[in-house]
Amino acid sequence: MIQIKNLWKRYGSVDVLQGLTLNANKGEILVILGRSGVGKSVLLRHIIGIEKPDQGTIDIDGTCISNLPKEQLYNAVKNMGMLFQGAALFDSMNIEENTAFYLKQHGNPLTKEPLTPEEIREKVTQALAMVGLAGTEKKLPSDLSGGMRKRAGLARLIVYRPSILLYDEPTTGLDPITAQQINELIVTTQNELKGTSIVVTHDINSALFMADRLALHQDGKIAYVAPPEEFMNIQDPTIEFLRNSLTHNLRKQNP
Ligand SMILES: Nc1ncnc2c1ncn2[C@@H]1O[C@H](COP(=O)(O)OP(=O)(O)OP(=O)(O)O)[C@@H](O)[C@H]1O
Ligand SMILES: [Mg+2]
Repeated sequence: MIQIKNLWKRYGSVDVLQGLTLNANKGEILVILGRSGVGKSVLLRHIIGIEKPDQGTIDIDGTCISNLPKEQLYNAVKNMGMLFQGAALFDSMNIEENTAFYLKQHGNPLTKEPLTPEEIREKVTQALAMVGLAGTEKKLPSDLSGGMRKRAGLARLIVYRPSILLYDEPTTGLDPITAQQINELIVTTQNELKGTSIVVTHDINSALFMADRLALHQDGKIAYVAPPEEFMNIQDPTIEFLRNSLTHNLRKQNP
């Protein structure tokens, strides 16, 4: 379980996080919505421990990670994985090496023993097939389209089976069919690993497809968090906009 309490973070003269509080439960997909620039990526970077808050705490399964020294932080967050906005592949490694990266670092997820090169190759092949990238092993990230790079980032994440998965806009910039495949993969992975998934997205259709609960990030805080139906009925201008964009889509489908 992830417990975030009263998180504050300032960059320059801007308070991006202003006392943000949020819990994510084991076994759920929590989707975070919010306007561009509100601080969603900043929040995910705090959860995975690569940014430190000015104030506030983040507990991961009962361990407070907000002020841990490097070595202990590494242990506390090694069961977490993140798909960064824009995929963030290593440019000089081919897709096979990129996908194998965390597997080589973390070893067998259960025993923590190092994996043999054959085991790694088998898992990488399987993960690339799952995201529709079979046969791209020897290609470099620069040889792939933006959508393919995003899917390679996803393969690199799911292959080492972390129990906490953070996805920063996993479907932005993808065509609707590929986006839906990614949504389904996120749900399948969650059902298989029974961990905790946090997904940041702008796409309300994807959000409603995946979410056990939805949260709205605005003005440096989580303004609301609720199951989908309850969330969509909240009286708030942003949620009103989301509601209208849904009806608008329905209207377009049924003129
Ligand atoms: N390392 C940093 N140094 C200075 N400012 C930063 C840093 N990281 C983020 N910011 C600022 O924090 C704010 C929130 O950024 P963030 O990337 O979290 O937005 P976001 O909600 O993820 O937006 P988007 O939906 O466009 O991805 C922005 O104003 C950004 O410029
Ligand atoms: Mg972002």
